[in-house]
Amino acid sequence: WKETDDFFSTKGAKRLIYIDSQKGHKDYLESTKTLKSLIDGYPNVEYVKYLYGEAMNLRAEHLRSNDVLQEAVKVLQEVANDENALQDVRNKAAELAADRLRFLGKRGGALKMGRLLVDSNPTRNFKHLKDVGVTCLIIGNNVEAERYFRRAVEQDPTDGFSLVHLGFSLKMQDKYEECLAPFEAGVKSLEPGTEESKFRYHWGDALMRLGRKPEADEMFEEAAKAGIFLSKFQRSTYNIDRLTGRPYWKKSELDKTLQIYWTRLEKKWEMMRDEAQALMDENLNFPNFEKEAEGLQKEGDWRQFTLWQQGRKQEKECKLTPKTCALIQDMKEATGCRRGQIKFSVMKEGTVVWPHTGPTNCRLRLHLGLRVPEDFTNLALTVADQEQHWENGKAFVFDDSFEHSVQHNGNSYRLILILDFWHPEMNDHEKRTVTAI
Ligand code: LMR
Ligand code: MN
Repeated sequence: WKETDDFFSTKGAKRLIYIDSQKGHKDYLESTKTLKSLIDGYPNVEYVKYLYGEAMNLRAEHLRSNDVLQEAVKVLQEVANDENALQDVRNKAAELAADRLRFLGKRGGALKMGRLLVDSNPTRNFKHLKDVGVTCLIIGNNVEAERYFRRAVEQDPTDGFSLVHLGFSLKMQDKYEECLAPFEAGVKSLEPGTEESKFRYHWGDALMRLGRKPEADEMFEEAAKAGIFLSKFQRSTYNIDRLTGRPYWKKSELDKTLQIYWTRLEKKWEMMRDEAQALMDENLNFPNFEKEAEGLQKEGDWRQFTLWQQGRKQEKECKLTPKTCALIQDMKEATGCRRGQIKFSVMKEGTVVWPHTGPTNCRLRLHLGLRVPEDFTNLALTVADQEQHWENGKAFVFDDSFEHSVQHNGNSYRLILILDFWHPEMNDHEKRTVTAI
Protein backbone atom coordinates (compact mmCIF):
# COMPACT_ATOMS: atom_id res chain seq x y z
CA TRP A 1 0.00 0.00 0.00
CA LYS A 2 2.82 2.34 0.90
CA GLU A 3 4.11 2.52 -2.62
CA THR A 4 0.74 3.77 -3.80
CA ASP A 5 -0.35 6.26 -1.23
CA ASP A 6 -2.49 8.04 -3.79
CA PHE A 7 -5.51 5.98 -2.91
CA PHE A 8 -7.69 8.50 -4.68
CA SER A 9 -6.51 7.05 -7.93
CA THR A 10 -7.73 3.90 -9.57
CA LYS A 11 -4.32 2.39 -9.63
CA GLY A 12 -3.71 2.57 -5.92
CA ALA A 13 -6.63 0.52 -4.80
CA LYS A 14 -6.58 -1.74 -7.85
CA ARG A 15 -3.00 -2.58 -7.07
CA LEU A 16 -3.94 -3.35 -3.53
CA ILE A 17 -6.46 -5.89 -4.73
CA TYR A 18 -3.86 -7.23 -7.13
CA ILE A 19 -1.19 -7.60 -4.43
CA ASP A 20 -3.74 -9.27 -2.25
CA SER A 21 -4.57 -11.81 -4.90
CA GLN A 22 -0.86 -12.43 -5.64
CA LYS A 23 -0.32 -13.27 -2.01
CA GLY A 24 -2.81 -16.05 -2.51
CA HIS A 25 -5.56 -14.28 -0.64
CA LYS A 26 -8.11 -15.40 -3.12
CA ASP A 27 -10.94 -14.07 -1.06
CA TYR A 28 -9.47 -10.54 -1.18
CA LEU A 29 -9.72 -10.31 2.57
CA GLU A 30 -6.83 -7.87 3.03
CA SER A 31 -7.96 -5.53 0.33
CA THR A 32 -11.55 -5.45 1.48
CA LYS A 33 -10.41 -4.82 5.04
CA THR A 34 -7.98 -2.10 4.04
CA LEU A 35 -10.41 -0.45 1.69
CA LYS A 36 -13.08 -0.53 4.38
CA SER A 37 -10.80 1.20 6.86
CA LEU A 38 -9.96 3.79 4.22
CA ILE A 39 -13.62 4.49 3.61
CA ASP A 40 -14.27 4.78 7.32
CA GLY A 41 -11.45 7.31 7.57
CA TYR A 42 -12.38 9.23 4.45
CA PRO A 43 -16.10 8.85 3.95
CA ASN A 44 -16.16 10.84 0.73
CA VAL A 45 -13.74 8.79 -1.23
CA GLU A 46 -16.35 7.39 -3.59
CA TYR A 47 -13.93 5.72 -5.89
CA VAL A 48 -12.33 3.73 -3.11
CA LYS A 49 -15.78 2.85 -1.98
CA TYR A 50 -16.55 1.57 -5.46
CA LEU A 51 -13.40 -0.54 -5.36
CA TYR A 52 -14.42 -1.85 -1.99
CA GLY A 53 -17.69 -2.97 -3.55
CA GLU A 54 -15.79 -4.57 -6.40
CA ALA A 55 -13.46 -6.41 -4.05
CA MET A 56 -16.39 -7.55 -1.94
CA ASN A 57 -18.01 -8.90 -5.08
CA LEU A 58 -14.88 -10.89 -5.93
CA ARG A 59 -14.74 -12.11 -2.38
CA ALA A 60 -18.39 -13.15 -2.52
CA GLU A 61 -17.74 -15.13 -5.68
CA HIS A 62 -14.81 -16.86 -4.09
CA LEU A 63 -16.67 -17.65 -0.87
CA ARG A 64 -19.93 -18.30 -2.71
CA SER A 65 -21.56 -16.14 -0.11
CA ASN A 66 -24.80 -14.32 -0.73
CA ASP A 67 -24.34 -12.27 2.43
CA VAL A 68 -21.03 -10.88 1.23
CA LEU A 69 -22.58 -10.26 -2.18
CA GLN A 70 -25.44 -8.32 -0.65
CA GLU A 71 -22.95 -6.18 1.23
CA ALA A 72 -21.10 -5.56 -2.05
CA VAL A 73 -24.35 -4.61 -3.78
CA LYS A 74 -25.33 -2.26 -0.98
CA VAL A 75 -22.03 -0.37 -1.27
CA LEU A 76 -22.25 -0.25 -5.07
CA GLN A 77 -25.80 1.09 -4.91
CA GLU A 78 -24.69 3.81 -2.52
CA VAL A 79 -21.96 4.90 -4.91
CA ALA A 80 -24.30 4.76 -7.90
CA ASN A 81 -26.79 6.99 -6.10
CA ASP A 82 -24.14 9.39 -4.76
CA GLU A 83 -24.49 12.73 -6.52
CA ASN A 84 -21.04 13.83 -5.34
CA ALA A 85 -19.32 10.99 -7.13
CA LEU A 86 -17.92 11.39 -10.63
CA GLN A 87 -20.30 10.24 -13.35
CA ASP A 88 -17.84 7.58 -14.50
CA VAL A 89 -17.58 6.15 -11.03
CA ARG A 90 -21.35 6.16 -10.64
CA ASN A 91 -21.74 4.40 -13.98
CA LYS A 92 -19.27 1.69 -13.07
CA ALA A 93 -20.99 1.11 -9.75
CA ALA A 94 -24.46 1.06 -11.33
CA GLU A 95 -23.31 -1.34 -14.02
CA LEU A 96 -21.87 -3.84 -11.60
CA ALA A 97 -24.74 -3.45 -9.15
CA ALA A 98 -27.30 -4.04 -11.92
CA ASP A 99 -25.52 -7.18 -13.02
CA ARG A 100 -25.23 -8.55 -9.49
CA LEU A 101 -28.85 -7.72 -8.65
CA ARG A 102 -29.99 -9.57 -11.75
CA PHE A 103 -27.90 -12.52 -10.59
CA LEU A 104 -29.64 -12.35 -7.20
CA GLY A 105 -33.01 -12.33 -8.95
CA LYS A 106 -33.77 -8.83 -7.66
CA ARG A 107 -35.32 -7.36 -10.75
CA GLY A 108 -36.70 -4.23 -9.16
CA GLY A 109 -33.27 -3.27 -7.81
CA ALA A 110 -31.56 -4.12 -11.11
CA LEU A 111 -34.08 -1.96 -12.92
CA LYS A 112 -33.35 1.04 -10.69
CA MET A 113 -29.64 0.73 -11.41
CA GLY A 114 -30.30 0.27 -15.12
CA ARG A 115 -32.50 3.36 -15.25
CA LEU A 116 -29.80 5.36 -13.54
CA LEU A 117 -27.32 4.24 -16.17
CA VAL A 118 -29.36 4.91 -19.25
CA ASP A 119 -31.07 8.05 -18.04
CA SER A 120 -27.78 9.74 -17.15
CA ASN A 121 -26.14 8.66 -20.39
CA PRO A 122 -28.50 9.51 -23.22
CA THR A 123 -26.26 8.35 -26.03
CA ARG A 124 -24.02 5.71 -24.48
CA ASN A 125 -25.03 2.32 -23.23
CA PHE A 126 -26.95 0.80 -26.09
CA LYS A 127 -26.67 -2.56 -24.38
CA HIS A 128 -28.01 -1.24 -21.09
CA LEU A 129 -30.91 0.40 -22.85
CA LYS A 130 -31.94 -3.03 -24.08
CA ASP A 131 -31.32 -4.72 -20.72
CA VAL A 132 -33.51 -2.18 -18.98
CA GLY A 133 -36.21 -2.55 -21.63
CA VAL A 134 -36.24 -6.32 -21.22
CA THR A 135 -36.48 -6.02 -17.43
CA CYS A 136 -39.43 -3.65 -17.87
CA LEU A 137 -41.17 -6.23 -20.06
CA ILE A 138 -40.53 -9.01 -17.55
CA ILE A 139 -42.18 -7.04 -14.76
CA GLY A 140 -45.02 -6.02 -17.08
CA ASN A 141 -44.11 -2.36 -17.38
CA ASN A 142 -44.87 -2.13 -21.09
CA VAL A 143 -45.14 1.64 -21.32
CA GLU A 144 -41.65 2.13 -19.93
CA ALA A 145 -40.31 -0.73 -22.07
CA GLU A 146 -41.70 0.99 -25.15
CA ARG A 147 -39.85 4.18 -24.23
CA TYR A 148 -36.49 2.44 -23.88
CA PHE A 149 -36.85 0.38 -27.04
CA ARG A 150 -37.88 3.47 -28.97
CA ARG A 151 -34.64 5.09 -27.84
CA ALA A 152 -32.69 2.00 -28.88
CA VAL A 153 -34.34 2.00 -32.31
CA GLU A 154 -33.54 5.70 -32.68
CA GLN A 155 -29.90 4.92 -32.05
CA ASP A 156 -29.88 1.96 -34.42
CA PRO A 157 -32.96 1.64 -36.65
CA THR A 158 -31.75 -1.70 -38.00
CA ASP A 159 -31.25 -3.44 -34.65
CA GLY A 160 -33.52 -6.49 -34.90
CA PHE A 161 -33.51 -7.23 -31.18
CA SER A 162 -34.77 -3.74 -30.33
CA LEU A 163 -37.34 -3.82 -33.12
CA VAL A 164 -39.03 -7.07 -32.07
CA HIS A 165 -39.04 -5.92 -28.45
CA LEU A 166 -40.53 -2.58 -29.44
CA GLY A 167 -43.21 -4.50 -31.32
CA PHE A 168 -43.81 -6.68 -28.27
CA SER A 169 -44.12 -3.75 -25.85
CA LEU A 170 -46.62 -2.09 -28.20
CA LYS A 171 -48.65 -5.29 -28.63
CA MET A 172 -48.85 -5.73 -24.86
CA GLN A 173 -50.54 -2.32 -24.76
CA ASP A 174 -53.05 -3.45 -27.41
CA LYS A 175 -51.48 -1.12 -29.98
CA TYR A 176 -52.15 -3.65 -32.73
CA GLU A 177 -51.66 -1.42 -35.75
CA GLU A 178 -48.49 0.20 -34.41
CA CYS A 179 -46.73 -3.03 -33.47
CA LEU A 180 -46.87 -4.55 -36.98
CA ALA A 181 -44.03 -2.62 -38.62
CA PRO A 182 -41.43 -3.13 -35.86
CA PHE A 183 -42.35 -6.83 -35.60
CA GLU A 184 -41.95 -7.28 -39.33
CA ALA A 185 -38.65 -5.38 -39.61
CA GLY A 186 -37.25 -7.11 -36.52
CA VAL A 187 -38.17 -10.60 -37.64
CA LYS A 188 -36.84 -9.98 -41.16
CA SER A 189 -33.46 -8.93 -39.71
CA LEU A 190 -32.93 -12.63 -38.85
CA GLU A 191 -30.76 -11.50 -35.94
CA PRO A 192 -30.28 -13.95 -33.07
CA GLY A 193 -33.20 -13.78 -30.64
CA THR A 194 -35.68 -12.45 -33.18
CA GLU A 195 -36.68 -16.01 -34.15
CA GLU A 196 -38.19 -16.55 -30.67
CA SER A 197 -41.71 -17.82 -31.24
CA LYS A 198 -43.43 -15.23 -29.04
CA PHE A 199 -42.67 -12.44 -31.51
CA ARG A 200 -44.36 -14.29 -34.38
CA TYR A 201 -47.17 -15.35 -32.06
CA HIS A 202 -48.02 -11.79 -31.05
CA TRP A 203 -47.44 -10.32 -34.47
CA GLY A 204 -49.98 -12.79 -35.88
CA ASP A 205 -52.31 -12.21 -32.94
CA ALA A 206 -52.29 -8.48 -33.70
CA LEU A 207 -53.10 -9.20 -37.35
CA MET A 208 -56.00 -11.48 -36.36
CA ARG A 209 -57.41 -8.89 -33.97
CA LEU A 210 -57.25 -6.35 -36.80
CA GLY A 211 -59.33 -8.73 -38.92
CA ARG A 212 -56.41 -9.76 -41.12
CA LYS A 213 -56.41 -13.50 -40.39
CA PRO A 214 -55.29 -14.61 -43.87
CA GLU A 215 -52.07 -12.62 -43.47
CA ALA A 216 -51.56 -14.09 -40.02
CA ASP A 217 -52.10 -17.61 -41.33
CA GLU A 218 -49.60 -17.09 -44.11
CA MET A 219 -46.96 -15.87 -41.68
CA PHE A 220 -47.70 -18.73 -39.23
CA GLU A 221 -47.31 -21.20 -42.07
CA GLU A 222 -43.90 -19.81 -43.00
CA ALA A 223 -42.79 -19.80 -39.37
CA ALA A 224 -43.88 -23.43 -39.01
CA LYS A 225 -41.79 -24.33 -42.07
CA ALA A 226 -38.81 -22.63 -40.42
CA GLY A 227 -39.37 -24.77 -37.31
CA ILE A 228 -40.50 -21.87 -35.12
CA PHE A 229 -43.93 -23.42 -34.45
CA LEU A 230 -44.87 -27.10 -34.34
CA SER A 231 -47.36 -26.31 -37.09
CA LYS A 232 -49.35 -23.42 -38.46
CA PHE A 233 -52.08 -24.06 -35.86
CA GLN A 234 -49.96 -25.48 -33.03
CA ARG A 235 -48.12 -22.48 -31.60
CA SER A 236 -47.43 -23.39 -27.97
CA THR A 237 -44.08 -22.44 -26.41
CA TYR A 238 -43.14 -25.27 -24.02
CA ASN A 239 -43.14 -28.37 -26.16
CA ILE A 240 -41.88 -31.90 -26.39
CA ASP A 241 -41.52 -32.16 -30.12
CA ARG A 242 -42.18 -35.87 -30.61
CA LEU A 243 -45.68 -35.81 -29.05
CA THR A 244 -48.52 -36.46 -31.49
CA GLY A 245 -50.51 -33.33 -32.15
CA ARG A 246 -54.09 -33.36 -33.41
CA PRO A 247 -56.91 -30.91 -32.69
CA TYR A 248 -59.36 -33.42 -31.17
CA TRP A 249 -58.80 -36.81 -29.56
CA LYS A 250 -61.49 -39.48 -29.79
CA LYS A 251 -62.13 -41.61 -26.73
CA SER A 252 -60.76 -44.65 -28.56
CA GLU A 253 -57.48 -42.84 -29.18
CA LEU A 254 -56.79 -42.50 -25.45
CA ASP A 255 -55.38 -45.01 -22.95
CA LYS A 256 -57.62 -47.18 -20.81
CA THR A 257 -57.04 -44.97 -17.74
CA LEU A 258 -58.20 -41.87 -19.55
CA GLN A 259 -61.21 -43.68 -20.96
CA ILE A 260 -62.19 -44.62 -17.40
CA TYR A 261 -61.90 -40.97 -16.27
CA TRP A 262 -64.02 -39.91 -19.23
CA THR A 263 -66.78 -42.42 -18.40
CA ARG A 264 -66.75 -41.63 -14.66
CA LEU A 265 -67.00 -37.89 -15.25
CA GLU A 266 -69.88 -38.25 -17.70
CA LYS A 267 -71.73 -40.45 -15.21
CA LYS A 268 -71.50 -37.88 -12.44
CA TRP A 269 -72.11 -34.73 -14.46
CA GLU A 270 -75.33 -33.78 -12.63
CA MET A 271 -73.63 -33.94 -9.22
CA MET A 272 -70.89 -31.59 -10.47
CA ARG A 273 -73.40 -29.29 -12.11
CA ASP A 274 -75.36 -29.02 -8.86
CA GLU A 275 -72.25 -28.29 -6.81
CA ALA A 276 -71.04 -25.60 -9.19
CA GLN A 277 -74.47 -24.05 -9.62
CA ALA A 278 -74.87 -23.80 -5.85
CA LEU A 279 -72.13 -21.13 -6.09
CA MET A 280 -74.33 -18.98 -8.33
CA ASP A 281 -76.21 -15.97 -6.91
CA GLU A 282 -79.75 -14.79 -7.71
CA ASN A 283 -78.52 -12.67 -10.64
CA LEU A 284 -76.94 -15.69 -12.31
CA ASN A 285 -73.49 -14.42 -11.32
CA PHE A 286 -70.72 -16.55 -9.89
CA PRO A 287 -69.05 -14.36 -7.25
CA ASN A 288 -66.45 -16.99 -6.28
CA PHE A 289 -65.29 -17.39 -9.86
CA GLU A 290 -62.34 -15.40 -11.19
CA LYS A 291 -62.50 -13.35 -14.33
CA GLU A 292 -60.30 -14.52 -17.18
CA ALA A 293 -57.39 -12.11 -16.93
CA GLU A 294 -55.17 -12.76 -19.95
CA GLY A 295 -56.97 -10.42 -22.32
CA LEU A 296 -58.30 -13.26 -24.46
CA GLN A 297 -61.89 -12.05 -24.59
CA LYS A 298 -63.08 -9.89 -27.40
CA GLU A 299 -66.45 -9.46 -25.71
CA GLY A 300 -68.45 -10.87 -22.85
CA ASP A 301 -67.95 -12.44 -19.48
CA TRP A 302 -65.88 -15.57 -18.87
CA ARG A 303 -65.00 -16.80 -15.37
CA GLN A 304 -63.29 -19.79 -13.85
CA PHE A 305 -63.21 -21.62 -10.53
CA THR A 306 -59.98 -23.58 -10.14
CA LEU A 307 -59.81 -26.89 -8.25
CA TRP A 308 -56.31 -28.03 -9.22
CA GLN A 309 -53.51 -25.89 -10.57
CA GLN A 310 -50.04 -27.09 -11.63
CA GLY A 311 -50.73 -30.39 -9.83
CA ARG A 312 -51.74 -28.67 -6.59
CA LYS A 313 -55.17 -29.06 -5.04
CA GLN A 314 -56.86 -25.74 -4.22
CA GLU A 315 -58.08 -26.51 -0.71
CA LYS A 316 -60.24 -23.43 -0.29
CA GLU A 317 -62.16 -24.07 -3.53
CA CYS A 318 -62.48 -27.79 -2.90
CA LYS A 319 -64.19 -27.08 0.43
CA LEU A 320 -66.97 -25.43 -1.61
CA THR A 321 -67.24 -28.30 -4.11
CA PRO A 322 -66.21 -31.34 -2.01
CA LYS A 323 -68.00 -34.06 -3.96
CA THR A 324 -66.47 -32.96 -7.25
CA CYS A 325 -63.00 -32.90 -5.73
CA ALA A 326 -63.52 -36.30 -4.12
CA LEU A 327 -64.53 -37.74 -7.49
CA ILE A 328 -61.49 -36.29 -9.25
CA GLN A 329 -58.96 -36.81 -6.43
CA ASP A 330 -57.73 -40.21 -7.69
CA MET A 331 -57.45 -39.22 -11.34
CA LYS A 332 -53.68 -38.88 -11.07
CA GLU A 333 -53.04 -38.17 -14.75
CA ALA A 334 -55.08 -35.01 -14.22
CA THR A 335 -54.52 -33.99 -10.58
CA GLY A 336 -50.77 -34.64 -11.03
CA CYS A 337 -50.58 -32.74 -14.31
CA ARG A 338 -48.23 -29.89 -13.38
CA ARG A 339 -48.80 -28.33 -16.77
CA GLY A 340 -52.53 -27.92 -16.44
CA GLN A 341 -55.58 -27.11 -14.39
CA ILE A 342 -58.91 -28.58 -13.37
CA LYS A 343 -61.64 -25.97 -13.18
CA PHE A 344 -65.22 -24.95 -13.75
CA SER A 345 -65.63 -22.47 -16.55
CA VAL A 346 -68.68 -20.27 -16.99
CA MET A 347 -69.31 -18.13 -20.02
CA LYS A 348 -72.17 -15.72 -20.48
CA GLU A 349 -74.07 -15.42 -23.74
CA GLY A 350 -72.46 -12.91 -26.08
CA THR A 351 -68.91 -13.92 -25.16
CA VAL A 352 -66.33 -14.11 -27.92
CA VAL A 353 -62.83 -15.45 -27.23
CA TRP A 354 -60.06 -14.53 -29.67
CA PRO A 355 -58.14 -17.35 -31.34
CA HIS A 356 -55.26 -18.30 -29.04
CA THR A 357 -53.13 -21.28 -28.05
CA GLY A 358 -52.19 -22.71 -24.67
CA PRO A 359 -48.57 -22.64 -23.46
CA THR A 360 -47.64 -26.32 -23.90
CA ASN A 361 -48.30 -29.48 -25.93
CA CYS A 362 -47.77 -31.67 -22.85
CA ARG A 363 -51.43 -31.77 -21.87
CA LEU A 364 -54.78 -32.55 -23.40
CA ARG A 365 -57.96 -30.82 -22.29
CA LEU A 366 -61.31 -32.44 -21.54
CA HIS A 367 -64.48 -30.35 -21.60
CA LEU A 368 -67.63 -31.74 -19.95
CA GLY A 369 -70.90 -29.90 -20.60
CA LEU A 370 -72.71 -29.18 -17.31
CA ARG A 371 -75.21 -26.51 -18.20
CA VAL A 372 -75.46 -25.81 -21.89
CA PRO A 373 -78.28 -23.62 -23.26
CA GLU A 374 -80.97 -25.48 -25.28
CA ASP A 375 -79.93 -23.65 -28.45
CA PHE A 376 -76.55 -25.37 -28.11
CA THR A 377 -75.69 -25.09 -31.79
CA ASN A 378 -75.41 -21.32 -31.36
CA LEU A 379 -72.27 -21.69 -29.30
CA ALA A 380 -69.11 -23.43 -30.34
CA LEU A 381 -65.47 -24.04 -29.71
CA THR A 382 -63.33 -23.98 -32.83
CA VAL A 383 -60.02 -25.88 -32.63
CA ALA A 384 -57.77 -25.39 -35.67
CA ASP A 385 -60.56 -25.19 -38.25
CA GLN A 386 -62.98 -27.69 -36.70
CA GLU A 387 -66.09 -26.70 -34.74
CA GLN A 388 -67.40 -28.52 -31.70
CA HIS A 389 -70.56 -27.95 -29.63
CA TRP A 390 -71.01 -28.60 -25.93
CA GLU A 391 -73.83 -30.84 -24.70
CA ASN A 392 -75.04 -31.60 -21.20
CA GLY A 393 -73.34 -34.64 -19.72
CA LYS A 394 -71.10 -35.15 -22.79
CA ALA A 395 -67.33 -34.80 -22.84
CA PHE A 396 -64.86 -34.20 -25.63
CA VAL A 397 -61.08 -33.88 -25.60
CA PHE A 398 -58.98 -31.39 -27.54
CA ASP A 399 -55.38 -30.26 -27.62
CA ASP A 400 -55.27 -26.64 -26.54
CA SER A 401 -51.78 -26.13 -27.96
CA PHE A 402 -53.71 -25.78 -31.22
CA GLU A 403 -55.30 -22.46 -32.02
CA HIS A 404 -58.81 -22.34 -30.55
CA SER A 405 -61.55 -19.75 -30.13
CA VAL A 406 -65.10 -19.52 -28.76
CA GLN A 407 -68.28 -17.92 -30.08
CA HIS A 408 -71.16 -17.95 -27.65
CA ASN A 409 -74.33 -16.73 -29.37
CA GLY A 410 -76.62 -18.88 -27.26
CA ASN A 411 -79.50 -17.57 -25.16
CA SER A 412 -78.04 -18.01 -21.67
CA TYR A 413 -74.87 -18.88 -19.77
CA ARG A 414 -72.79 -22.01 -20.37
CA LEU A 415 -71.13 -23.96 -17.54
CA ILE A 416 -68.54 -26.71 -18.13
CA LEU A 417 -65.87 -28.67 -16.29
CA ILE A 418 -62.36 -28.42 -17.75
CA LEU A 419 -59.90 -31.18 -16.89
CA ASP A 420 -56.34 -31.17 -18.20
CA PHE A 421 -54.28 -34.36 -18.15
CA TRP A 422 -50.81 -35.39 -19.29
CA HIS A 423 -50.45 -36.12 -22.99
CA PRO A 424 -50.68 -39.93 -23.26
CA GLU A 425 -47.27 -40.19 -24.93
CA MET A 426 -45.39 -38.53 -22.08
CA ASN A 427 -43.21 -40.95 -20.10
CA ASP A 428 -42.95 -41.04 -16.30
CA HIS A 429 -39.58 -39.34 -16.28
CA GLU A 430 -40.95 -36.44 -18.31
CA LYS A 431 -44.03 -36.15 -16.12
CA ARG A 432 -41.78 -35.91 -13.08
CA THR A 433 -39.22 -33.49 -14.47
CA VAL A 434 -40.77 -30.96 -16.85
CA THR A 435 -41.22 -27.54 -15.29
CA ALA A 436 -44.67 -26.63 -14.01
CA ILE A 437 -46.78 -24.19 -16.00
C1 LMR B 1 -60.31 -22.25 -23.61
O1 LMR B 1 -59.73 -23.21 -23.10
O2 LMR B 1 -59.73 -21.33 -24.16
C2 LMR B 1 -61.80 -22.18 -23.58
O3 LMR B 1 -62.28 -23.05 -24.52
C3 LMR B 1 -62.29 -22.48 -22.23
C4 LMR B 1 -63.76 -22.43 -22.17
O4 LMR B 1 -64.28 -22.18 -21.07
O5 LMR B 1 -64.42 -22.65 -23.20
MN1 MN C 1 -57.71 -21.63 -24.16
